[in-house]
Amino acid sequence: MMVEALLETKDVVKRFGGIRAVDGVSISVERGEIVGLIGPNGAGKTTLFNCITGTYTPEEGHIFFEGKEITKLPSNKIIRLGIARTWQVVRPFKKMSVIDAITTGALLRHGKIDEAREKAREVAQFLGLPEEILKKRGDEITLMQHKLVDLARALATEPKLLLIDEVGAGLRPAELNMMIETLHKINKERGTTLVVVEHIMRLVMSISKRVIVMHEGKVIAQGKPEEVSNNPQVIQAYLGIKPV
Ligand SMILES: Nc1ncnc2c1ncn2[C@@H]1O[C@H](COP(=O)(O)OP(=O)(O)OP(=O)(O)O)[C@@H](O)[C@H]1O
Ligand SMILES: [Mg+2]
Repeated sequence: MMVEALLETKDVVKRFGGIRAVDGVSISVERGEIVGLIGPNGAGKTTLFNCITGTYTPEEGHIFFEGKEITKLPSNKIIRLGIARTWQVVRPFKKMSVIDAITTGALLRHGKIDEAREKAREVAQFLGLPEEILKKRGDEITLMQHKLVDLARALATEPKLLLIDEVGAGLRPAELNMMIETLHKINKERGTTLVVVEHIMRLVMSISKRVIVMHEGKVIAQGKPEEVSNNPQVIQAYLGIKPV
């Protein structure tokens, strides 16, 4: 029997007017791996995440999670099945406290507020968010802390698959190192499968054994980090030169 992929997309298409933002994407993600998803600006990475999480419904193609078709499911059903995501643009929660923001994620699987808060605390501690941060409001914390809170909110939903969209952007070198360790820790200690969209090559290359490259809505390469970074098509896509 073949081992079933955790996530599989088949010929997924998502258009915006005349643009095919995602143009026939077929990828597969195995249970337990960390996959890097890279590509120049506008390649369709975030749109693919939006299709997988039910933020958008693709016009064509199919998406399977644990062998079950999820293509047309609403986002609340998809998150319940075990797919969570973080956001490319940090969504500041100005008035809410950190612990409450994380608790909103935990409420997915814990109906009682005390249990949800307990879960939120456990995840915050796991990610190394100090106790004194938990009471702070969104407008009192740093970008790094915001990113950890966003990760914590997603992890509090107890995902099997976590889609991470540019978690490295804007971080200082030391913070970036901490983030790399944090992503490894999530994968190793919680067993969460990760798909990591990232422009910072140091982050991608140090966490993923396998990298998928998108360009103009299509997958143009995939393989080991050193293979894809030497692939002429990938280099051309990044330099903005069309092959003749
Ligand atoms: N809601 C939308 N309405 C119209 N066009 C959109 C929308 N979202 C994305 N697009 C377009 O779809 C294409 C893919 O965008 P997408 O945001 O998925 O790229 P990306 O690979 O995530 O890029 P980046 O690295 O800059 O975040 C782009 O041409 C973008 O302008
Ligand atoms: Mg994006």
